[in-house]
Amino acid sequence: MSQRTEPSARTSAAPDVPDSPDSPDSPGTALVTGATAGIGHAFARALAARGHDLVLVARDEQRLAEVARELTSEHGVAVEVLAADLVDRAQLARVEARVAETGRPVEVLVNNAGFGLKERFLDNDVEAEQAMLDVLVTAVMRLSRAALGAMAERGSGTVVNVSSVAAFLPRGTYSAAKAWVNSFSEWAHHEYGPRGVTVTALCPGFTRTEFHQRMGVKPGTGMLWLDVDRLVADALADVDKGRAFSIPGAQYKAIVALTRAVPTSLLQRLQGLGRK
Ligand SMILES: NC(=O)c1ccc[n+]([C@@H]2O[C@H](COP(=O)([O-])OP(=O)(O)OC[C@H]3O[C@@H](n4cnc5c(N)ncnc54)[C@H](OP(=O)(O)O)[C@@H]3O)[C@@H](O)[C@H]2O)c1
Repeated sequence: MSQRTEPSARTSAAPDVPDSPDSPDSPGTALVTGATAGIGHAFARALAARGHDLVLVARDEQRLAEVARELTSEHGVAVEVLAADLVDRAQLARVEARVAETGRPVEVLVNNAGFGLKERFLDNDVEAEQAMLDVLVTAVMRLSRAALGAMAERGSGTVVNVSSVAAFLPRGTYSAAKAWVNSFSEWAHHEYGPRGVTVTALCPGFTRTEFHQRMGVKPGTGMLWLDVDRLVADALADVDKGRAFSIPGAQYKAIVALTRAVPTSLLQRLQGLGRK
């Protein structure tokens, strides 16, 4: 099976894995995008530990099958894999269709897939910028729409949109995209809460995943760097409490509070201290 070669949004159960999610004792099926690495993989593990059957989405089919096998053997849940590049509108549409299926309802949607770009705005290829916008915003909007329709109709469901503390900072198009995720999620939280649906924007700070390595940036160390399993445990605790925002880590709660007190013009000057 080839890796990352023109994935085509194929749905399949991993070998030796039950192919019908939502067994009778399941708390419901959870669909996680970007489930093969980092925060998404940690969400998949944590949700499987809670007994959720899963639909895992990412581009790398082989890695998806490995994660499916791991979760099935460790937690006994049913796992379906859906290989899709969320930049590709036809492949994204296959994921939307799966999310909206009423016969096999998705009770929890985690919009997590994402990546960043190393260079500043004018130094990036515009198509790379477009692809980032497609994954960070368009996929989140379209999958949320598919989920919220079905969830509001049945009166239950949970959507977690993985944003970033960068949403509170003026740090280029990545921040702008995450600010969209925050604004949309907060609005949806209030709009659909009365219809039984919880929407939470998760705003991580620096977290030890593959994100920085994929971007070509050396990950850092020290107190600003969060452990991914702790991050997801804190996030799920906030989701359980029905919060609109989850900002794991005392250091990041303090940073976000500070950004609200400091004028944007000053924050913009401070961005020169790090990557834009
Ligand atoms: N790590 C941090 O410091 C940090 C901080 C704040 C926010 N975040 C946010 O957290 C989320 C997860 O990031 P992470 O740190 O866990 O990154 P990661 O370890 O690099 O994992 C990214 C995941 O997204 C998938 N993915 C990437 N592009 C995709 C595409 N076009 N279509 C489908 N799947 C795609 C990857 O799988 P494939 O390559 O197989 O597709 C992988 O499973 C992102 O939204 C990111 O912006 C991260």
